Amino acid sequence: MAFTKDFLWGGATAANQIEGAYDEAGKGLSAADFVEYIPKEKREKDNSMEVDSEVIKRILAGGHDGRFPKREGIDFYHRYKEDIRMFAEMGFKSFRLSIHWSRIFPKGYDGEPNEAGLQYYEDMFKELKKYDIEPVVTLSHYETPYGLIEKYNGWKSREVIDHFVRYAETVFNRYKDYVKYWMTFNEINIMNISPYTGGGVLSDLEEKPKQTSYQALHHQFVASSIATKKLREIAPDALMGCMLARMSFYPYTSNPADVLLAQQENQKNLMYTDVHARGEYPNFIKRFFKENNIELDIKDGDLELLREYPVDYISFSYYMSMTVSASEGGEETSGNLVRGVKNPYLEASDWGWQIDPIGLRVVLNDMWDRYQKPLFIVENGLGAYDELTEDKKVYDDYRIDYLKKHIEQMSEAIEDGVNLMGYLSWGPIDLVSMSTSEMSKRYGYIYVDKDDDGNGTLDRYRKKSFNWYKQVIETNGENLDTDVDY
Ligand code: BG6
Repeated sequence: MAFTKDFLWGGATAANQIEGAYDEAGKGLSAADFVEYIPKEKREKDNSMEVDSEVIKRILAGGHDGRFPKREGIDFYHRYKEDIRMFAEMGFKSFRLSIHWSRIFPKGYDGEPNEAGLQYYEDMFKELKKYDIEPVVTLSHYETPYGLIEKYNGWKSREVIDHFVRYAETVFNRYKDYVKYWMTFNEINIMNISPYTGGGVLSDLEEKPKQTSYQALHHQFVASSIATKKLREIAPDALMGCMLARMSFYPYTSNPADVLLAQQENQKNLMYTDVHARGEYPNFIKRFFKENNIELDIKDGDLELLREYPVDYISFSYYMSMTVSASEGGEETSGNLVRGVKNPYLEASDWGWQIDPIGLRVVLNDMWDRYQKPLFIVENGLGAYDELTEDKKVYDDYRIDYLKKHIEQMSEAIEDGVNLMGYLSWGPIDLVSMSTSEMSKRYGYIYVDKDDDGNGTLDRYRKKSFNWYKQVIETNGENLDTDVDY
């Protein structure tokens, strides 16, 4: 049997994509609350998540007629008991959620935490405990409090480190009896793709936006190490992880120029986990900084902190692989946060993300060889259009097929010798898309009756994949048979 007895099967979410109740019980505004829904036909890019200072000004002045789906979520805030009961029915061993920072510190820099926010998550952890579901908690999943954006331009400023650490200490102290698995920043590499999303940085206010985003990233690395230090003091048995959007790059051809480019892209992607896990900036990124006139302001003690407090485990998201070419040409395709050349051997989702289960085995082996630290897949899944039948069924065989093939490759990787702690598929219940704010891009085992315009009853329905995943967990990954009763 490939999977260990205590393998953490479950699902993953983020507060801003499920909770709603964006201004209830003292919660302050966060970066996610400013992201408007833009229908596909009006979108200029694949995604619509980056926000600039003009947009914020306009929204605060009330000059908008749009919707903010991340303020609404799927009303998990009020329905979490019902939803957790369904996760338990599937046999979840663990559930990944993020704490919405601005529920705890509404502005980010407040003197005292908001008790109502603290109590809310405590109640949720108690509910999870009832079913022996282990929470896996992200401290910051694209949810920088707006107060920190307004006052400091987000993570650009070093002051934010202290505010983050205070927040981290507050929740470690409060939840130390409930939470064993923590991670600091979701997909920390997004800082260089969408600085607003990753760190509340408004790039249009910056003269040298690239320089700023690497500086902001440095602040997050340092904050992560200090938080790890604090966690060791407050809850010595707990574990701290980092989180990377793993983007695996293939060369388009065997032309050495393509191979080199793919290697460089992979190095750049792994730079983040290099710092988190090995505790230092790798040499190739130092060359990149030099050639791109990026000079980091590194204070005394920063590098020691990175070295002394690396993470305990490495978690990552994996949805697809990318292909790159050093020459012009080749049909382009989109992907999770980045674009690349179309790989002729792979099929793609309706959003152009290239489906590549074998790539997951490659990634797992690569990362295990590189770090020798436990790996944790905390996001994977297929965003697809689902159809709810009249008798409230969703026959999502395409999703089952995607998940099955990825789980098979995980099992192969474990046989290869990789230490894999668990598998949390993304969006076990349909939620608001991060990149497009759509509801119609669904990942769930549970269907939520809500459409892109915000209409619907919010009722929940079990999809066919619900029964299938239940069987997978029940048999600890042994029975992946797609022929399930439904
Ligand atoms: C990851 C994010 O990049 O991908 C999630 O951590 C996100 O927040 C997920 O939802 C899937 O992306 P999308 O754009 O389909 O929601």
